[in-house]
Amino acid sequence: MNQPVTAALATAHSNIALVKYWGKRAGCDPELNLPAVGSLSMTLDELRTVTRVAPASADRFELDGEEVEGKPAAKVFAHLDRLWRLGACSGPRPRCAVVSTNHLPTAAGLASSASGFAALTIAAAGCFGLAEQLDDPTRARLSAWARMGSGSAARSLWGGFVRLDAGTADDGSDCRARPLPSPRPWDLRLLVVHTARGAKQVGSTGGMESSRLTSPYYPAWVESSAADLDAAEAALRARAFDQLGEVMEHSCFKMHACMLATRPALMYWNGATLEVIRAVWQLREAGGPVGYVTSDAGPHVKVLCRAEQAPALAAELAAVAGVHEVQRVAPGPDASLELT
Ligand code: PMV
Repeated sequence: MNQPVTAALATAHSNIALVKYWGKRAGCDPELNLPAVGSLSMTLDELRTVTRVAPASADRFELDGEEVEGKPAAKVFAHLDRLWRLGACSGPRPRCAVVSTNHLPTAAGLASSASGFAALTIAAAGCFGLAEQLDDPTRARLSAWARMGSGSAARSLWGGFVRLDAGTADDGSDCRARPLPSPRPWDLRLLVVHTARGAKQVGSTGGMESSRLTSPYYPAWVESSAADLDAAEAALRARAFDQLGEVMEHSCFKMHACMLATRPALMYWNGATLEVIRAVWQLREAGGPVGYVTSDAGPHVKVLCRAEQAPALAAELAAVAGVHEVQRVAPGPDASLELT
């Protein structure tokens, strides 16, 4: 019988997809949160969530020093219920205090759900006596549990570069995230170029559902994604930077084309987003520092570059009108757990 053994503290790093996930698989249990396409990401060093889960007299959720209530808190407690059930723990779930700190730029509209749900999953597993799941080298169950909270969270279990396969099994058993081993560490940087302040407008789950139902480009997006994944993995293994950058930009613009063709249109960019993209392209063409862009369900631009060119490229992009901040982020480590 599993009982809460102890308070547990987890750290999980955020990640940015180089090959994007957009869309959930139709016709299967929505609780499984299965993606329609696979994805490939880079885990981010400085951007992380630290979460402590401890038995308490009542459920509570604190984020960055503030008590959270309503829907966001309900989502956290529902995830605890899910983990308790999936871990085959017996008896009623103990009440828990969940205390999280996001080491992410505050209110910048950068998704924190990846690191947030990964850290919550691992800390709760530790608290519920399921910590041995971390010893499984595939981290398969933990990754699947994190995915049920947020699709991108499945990738935040590992450091470096991670591939999440969509799979085809109805029970999601082959929808697996796995780290992509590299023969030697590859010193790349992701520049996070902030073009706005404030939270994003349309949540990803609602946006994905609208695209699936109304975007005429959605079937083509889904159908062409596996080839991008294989091309990106091959480029990573060969350390072919321009090849990786090319497929990364293609995946990003294809996703945004699918979003734009959704009814009503999903337009996440602002004017500065376009200015940054143009600046990256112009520098590349003019023989300046070489970067490749991607962006998610928000206006910020993330630019992949070689470590040695990161300072020069960051300085160029910081000078673009509308840019608030440019962060230089290295590939991050695996998620970790401490029983306290
Ligand atoms: O995991 P979610 O529901 O936050 O969706 C992530 C969707 C994108 O950020 C747009 C792409 C991705 O693969 O991370």
